[in-house]
Formats: sequence, C-alpha cells, structure tokens
Amino acid sequence: MKVALQAATARHPAARAGTTPALRGLDLQVAAGEQLAVIGPSGAGKTTLLQLLACALPPGAGVLELDGQAPWQLPRAELQRLRGRLFLAPQVPPLPPRQRVVTAVLAGRLPAMGTWQSLRSLFYPVDIPAAFEALDRFDLADKLFERVDRLSGGERQRVGLARALLSPASLWLIDEPLSALDPTRASQAVDTLLTAARERGATLVATLHQVDVALAHFPRIVGLRDGAIAFDLPAAQVGRERLAALYAQHEHELTAPAPELPEPALAPQPVVMHCR
Ligand SMILES: Nc1ncnc2c1ncn2[C@@H]1O[C@H](COP(=O)(O)OP(=O)(O)O)[C@@H](O)[C@H]1O
Ligand SMILES: [Mg+2]
Repeated sequence: MKVALQAATARHPAARAGTTPALRGLDLQVAAGEQLAVIGPSGAGKTTLLQLLACALPPGAGVLELDGQAPWQLPRAELQRLRGRLFLAPQVPPLPPRQRVVTAVLAGRLPAMGTWQSLRSLFYPVDIPAAFEALDRFDLADKLFERVDRLSGGERQRVGLARALLSPASLWLIDEPLSALDPTRASQAVDTLLTAARERGATLVATLHQVDVALAHFPRIVGLRDGAIAFDLPAAQVGRERLAALYAQHEHELTAPAPELPEPALAPQPVVMHCR
C-alpha cells in the first residue's frame, strides 16, 4: 500500500482540544512495499503518526492518502474495508489474559473477517498450522497452546508481532516492537518482520527505540522530533551528528536500554469459591 501525507497535523487522542498538535504539518511519501523506521525521542509523535496512518485518528489539517484515497472521505463501509487492509501492532499488544496464544495469533486475521467468521474463530481456532508457523518464526512454537498471561513481557510482545504474519494487511504499522526484547531477540524479531513483509509485498512502517537496530536493518530512516520530520534519509546517510541533534536533551534515550514496558492490564484472577 502506498502512503502519502501532506502538511498533515494530528493530535494525540488523549490530548485536550486547543493544545499544540502532536504532529505539526508532516509531509511523507512511502511507496508500496517500502520499509521505513521512525526514530526520535519520547514525545516526538511516533505513536500518533502510526495512529494517523492506521486511520485510528483523523488528520486535523492536511491530507492523508492510502493508495490514493483519502480514508476519512470514504463512506463508512469502505473505510471499514480499508481498515481491514491495515495492521497496527501497538507497543503493548492488547491480549486478553486468559486467551490461548493460538487464538491470540489468529486474531491477526480478525480485521479482515466478517462478523460471523471472526466470532467462530474465537471459539474454534481454524488455522492452527498457520498460527504455528507464525509463532515458529518468532521462536515461540512451543507456546501455541499456552495461556497469554503465563508468558513473559517479551514473549507477549512477540505474540503481538506474530499476529502481523497472519494478517492479510498491505500496510503494517508496528509501534516499538522490540522494547521488551534483549538485543539478540530484538535483531531476530526485526529480521523476521522485515522478511515476512517483503514476502507479502506489505509496506512496513515501524517506530523504534533502538536506533542501532533501526540503522542496521531498515533501508530508510525518518527522524521525528517535536511533531516534525527532522530528516528522512537512507540509513547509511544518517550519521552521528544528525542522531545527536535528534536526541539533544534526550541523550539517555540514545544509549540507554529500552524503557520498562508497561505491563498490560490483566483482568483480575477469579476468586476461588469453596462450596460446602
Ligand atoms: N496521554 C496523553 N495525553 C495527552 N497528550 C498526550 C498523551 N500522550 C502523548 N500526548 C501528546 O502527544 C505528543 C506525542 O506523543 P506520542 O505520539 O505518544 O510520542 P512518541 O510515541 O514519539 O513518544 C506528546 O508529546 C504529547 O504532547
Ligand atoms: Mg510511542
């Protein structure tokens, strides 16, 4: 899928009206099948950018086009159909705690399914081999029937990524996919994502906290700061000086390990009642 932004502004969904928009007039063109990493300090607007591209929030001003169509001008049914071609992986995957991993992974297909099909798939996982294969690519095949709340944060994050492999989407938007992973796992996971996106011809836009991983794996890097694009360059041309300027006053984010991943809100465990 082809992506175009022209002078697009957007406000974080939780931001109050009248505050400065998180994105302040972005111009960005991404070709179909391209792979792009967005880096920048916390608060730069990376998550807001992904939400804008995922049609989770409308642009305040300017233009968003996906495959040449302005999504927010489409009739509702067509906007829904378009959303079925988008896959957004939030930083903390919304995994229901007592769900089995297999069901959670197959949920990657839900946005593209009809209501009946998707309900059925929640009760009867329909394509277990596909879920197995996707998990195997993230080294999680042995967790197929494990409960999601018995996984570590890093394993949950990889389950969230395995969902992308099941999704028929042609635009993958992946928010900080590696924040709970150690460096070796992070490299493997990003390689798996890039390879899978390439195999399917999907466009991939990922925000990344690990600048070294972004530079080593992605061909194109967009530096975002204060809601504006600081640079948009092939990875080889980014260089230390631009990185230093991008992270000025946030130097610790360039060198520090990934921030603690907030634990997903797990539903309280049921209280065990004893009947006499
Ligand atoms: N929960 C929130 N409530 C209000 N405004 C927010 C909230 N989260 C983020 N923002 C605003 O949106 C801006 C961009 O945030 P975000 O897109 O989350 O950046 P990033 O993902 O780069 O850390 C922030 O600088 C802040 O101004
Ligand atoms: Mg973010």
